[in-house]
Amino acid sequence: MPNELRGAAPAVALALSLLMWACALSAAPATPSAGETLYRRGLLPSGEPVQALRQGGATIQGADAACVSCHRRSGLGSTEGRISIPPIAGAYLFAPRAKSLEELGIPFVDTARISHEPYIDSTLAQAIRDGIGANGRPQLSDAALSDR
Ligand code: HEC
Repeated sequence: MPNELRGAAPAVALALSLLMWACALSAAPATPSAGETLYRRGLLPSGEPVQALRQGGATIQGADAACVSCHRRSGLGSTEGRISIPPIAGAYLFAPRAKSLEELGIPFVDTARISHEPYIDSTLAQAIRDGIGANGRPQLSDAALSDR
């Protein structure tokens, strides 16, 4: 190897390993799970678009109803005008009741709801299908996603 290239080897190695990292991070799994397909594309396992009923009666479906369009790719939610979209990453949904996120050691997200019971599989399914929150009370029907 010529001398001038030898000097560049560590930089090239670094660039390559960064590239490999980038590829590893962006590589989608060969077969996305049913959950991921619903979350990102709004498609049911049958391939049919999911339908969701919004407050006021409007129906949205497929990509518009995909969880990602509101809760974002990170699952950390967002704020849209006066609508506050809570984070639905596991750390937030399954967190025990607490006074603050800080107390739980979970990163602060201003739309997080920590005043409800921690979700369990059945209450989570209810929240997603029927818009019923972990406390058994109806949420905004924005969350009333129905796969029927
Ligand atoms: C049109 C925007 C929108 C879409 C699409 C959407 N959500 Fe939501 N979601 C919301 C809003 C707004 C709330 C908060 C409702 C409220 O105020 O109680 C919410 C609440 C939730 C909650 C309850 C969170 C909590 O802390 O109690 C869960 C769980 C949830 N969504 C899961 C999903 C899943 C899974 C999908 C995809 C199948 C989805 N959402 C699609 C807007 C959306």
